[in-house]
Amino acid sequence: MLYTASAAGPAALLGLALVVLSVVILRVKGFARLKHIPGPLWAGWTDLWLIRAQICGRLNFILHDVNRQYGKLFPIGPKWVVCGDGAELRRMWGVRSAWQRAYWYRGLRVDPYKDNAFSTLDDQVHEKLRAKLAPGYGGKDVDNLHQLIDEQVAGLVSLLETTYLSTEIDFRPVDLACKAFGYLAADVDLFGYIETTERTVPVLLATALMPWFLRILQSPRLKWLLPNAQDMVGIGTVMGRAKAAVAERYGDKPVVKRDMLGSFVAHGLSREDAEGETVAEIDAGIREGRVSSPITDAEARQLPYLQAVIREGLRVWPPATAVLPKVSDKDQVVCGVRVPAGTNFAWSPWSIMRNKETFGDDADLFRPERWLGIPPAKYRLMDQTVMMEFAPGSRWECLGKTVAQMELNKTFVELLRRFDFTLLDPTSPWKSYNAAVFIQSDMNVVVTRREPSLVPAQLKE
Ligand code: HEM
Repeated sequence: MLYTASAAGPAALLGLALVVLSVVILRVKGFARLKHIPGPLWAGWTDLWLIRAQICGRLNFILHDVNRQYGKLFPIGPKWVVCGDGAELRRMWGVRSAWQRAYWYRGLRVDPYKDNAFSTLDDQVHEKLRAKLAPGYGGKDVDNLHQLIDEQVAGLVSLLETTYLSTEIDFRPVDLACKAFGYLAADVDLFGYIETTERTVPVLLATALMPWFLRILQSPRLKWLLPNAQDMVGIGTVMGRAKAAVAERYGDKPVVKRDMLGSFVAHGLSREDAEGETVAEIDAGIREGRVSSPITDAEARQLPYLQAVIREGLRVWPPATAVLPKVSDKDQVVCGVRVPAGTNFAWSPWSIMRNKETFGDDADLFRPERWLGIPPAKYRLMDQTVMMEFAPGSRWECLGKTVAQMELNKTFVELLRRFDFTLLDPTSPWKSYNAAVFIQSDMNVVVTRREPSLVPAQLKE
């Protein structure tokens, strides 16, 4: 016995030494790939720097701080660089560029075993999927898209009017961060959609940074080993609702409607793919009362100050801050620096939107006037830069851009022509956690009636 134990000891030690040695060699090799690009020390050695920044909910600010310290291109992991140069990124995101979606996108699967438009890495599959989705998302095939948005805005107005209007004798603050379009009449997160999203997105975004873990989690072969992955991230219920909503549009007696889902079906989207795309619109069920004359999208586009406020809002607080990494299978030169093949090439939206060369020395300020009375070329550059929020170019551009812009155009006018909003605590306006999108809470405001209410004509002045 003694003899066996003493022989096993050195063997185990040798094994351990080999493991440690290979880890060290891998780390040194990893570090060497990007050592010619200055950046945070630990980020060069381990992905933990990036994962920690993602989990703490401040990645957007951290990338901007590092950008200010190290310049336009810097590493944030052994296989990661971040860029804060808008022109270079627009070139890379262009149709004919050699860059592809990086493996990170696989982390955006809602169903762990099935891709959707956001998550697929295959260019051809993605292109075909986009062709089927674009007419629906863009509103071309949808009857009354404007009216549907008007109804949602009217629902919000009506909720504020009836439940949250404060007066000199009646104090009724409201948490604006908690109002879900689609469930306004009920004034609750009816199917736990917001709650599920807020729970799910941080988990998805953290696992997206761990390709080895993602491979295990999404492997159909290992399905038996894990608890239901959908339930692990809490998305099971939402997926169930999506399946139910899609079911009635397929089969022997399909319901035909001219809405987004109807357009997807008409353009040949398979039932399975439709389930993957429908998670974003299952809340379209509940409709509320309307205002008599909601502003039209076309009218809103003609209001220069409104457009300036919307652009300035998107610029100062970009709503989508995911790192959106692209990868090339060949070495590339970006910002004059060699980026080795296989490097995840991400962007820092906060830095791009605060670039002083593009927006002026006061780029950190919210100042809508910067958009007014400037030369057309300057406006174009600023506009192009802000619209990077929607990943411009026909390849990956947000399919919901038109809908998102309509919502912004209508909501501000309809609210601000009726109400004044006062933050309950200006020293702590809201709580905000950045998980690629912002998870906000406690945005408590006091809403009072604006007297006299503004009509659209006055807004044009
Ligand atoms: C201000 C609001 C929005 C912002 C900032 C935004 C931003 C983005 C970005 C950056 C992407 C590109 C992701 C990538 O592939 O790298 C994207 C894709 C997408 N967005 Fe949006 N989005 C917004 C609203 C919406 C809305 C309201 C919808 C649905 C009606 C929508 C539907 C989509 C879809 C389907 C894609 C996938 C496109 C594709 O993979 O080809 N978005 N969005």
